[in-house]
Amino acid sequence: MPQLQLIQIYARSENRVIGADGRIPWRLPDDFKHFKQTTMGCPIIMGRKTYEDHASALPGRLNLVVTRNSDYEAAEGVEVVASLDAAIQRASNESDRVFIIGGVGLFEQTFDQVQTVYETVVHTEIHGEAVLPEFDFTGWQREVLQQHPADDRHAYAFTVVRWDRR
Ligand SMILES: NC(=O)c1ccc[n+]([C@@H]2O[C@H](COP(=O)([O-])OP(=O)(O)OC[C@H]3O[C@@H](n4cnc5c(N)ncnc54)[C@H](OP(=O)(O)O)[C@@H]3O)[C@@H](O)[C@H]2O)c1
Repeated sequence: MPQLQLIQIYARSENRVIGADGRIPWRLPDDFKHFKQTTMGCPIIMGRKTYEDHASALPGRLNLVVTRNSDYEAAEGVEVVASLDAAIQRASNESDRVFIIGGVGLFEQTFDQVQTVYETVVHTEIHGEAVLPEFDFTGWQREVLQQHPADDRHAYAFTVVRWDRR
């Protein structure tokens, strides 16, 4: 069986905010399209608060939610898992490409294990309580996949970057 590829995907503002009031603080349809195309068909692992932002299964992907609450009930099509290790184990039975989709704690807990990070930098500074720490990408390969201007449908310009651990 091929080696597991663990991948992170997120969008952050220039001041590293990913969430405000429990929501994603922007609506960027073309970044959402990139998220959908990149993760489609692969298991996605998320923290309980990230799950509650949409509170339904994202179609076409095995949805795994981690929580320490053993009574937690999620929507149909969403599996609840008690630990991150158990979630990664469960996901790796389905696919050799597994995505960590947030939030902050999950990105922190998995950074040392991931081979690839899809990072969208949203070109604004924003206030929010979910803030990513500085990850050290020293020695990683950086490729710019997309530079998207602000337009009628996108309040902010954004840049999509793919990082690969060498
Ligand atoms: N911009 C983006 O790309 C992006 C991506 C994802 C999320 N977000 C935003 O980020 C915010 C949510 O992120 P967050 O960092 O506040 O929370 P989160 O990581 O989504 O959820 C935290 C919860 O996950 C559970 N958890 C975390 N680590 C665990 C572990 N090792 N084992 C078991 N359970 C574990 C715990 O749930 P219990 O408390 O139930 O035990 C914890 O309270 C929202 O605003 C969301 O919209 C943005």
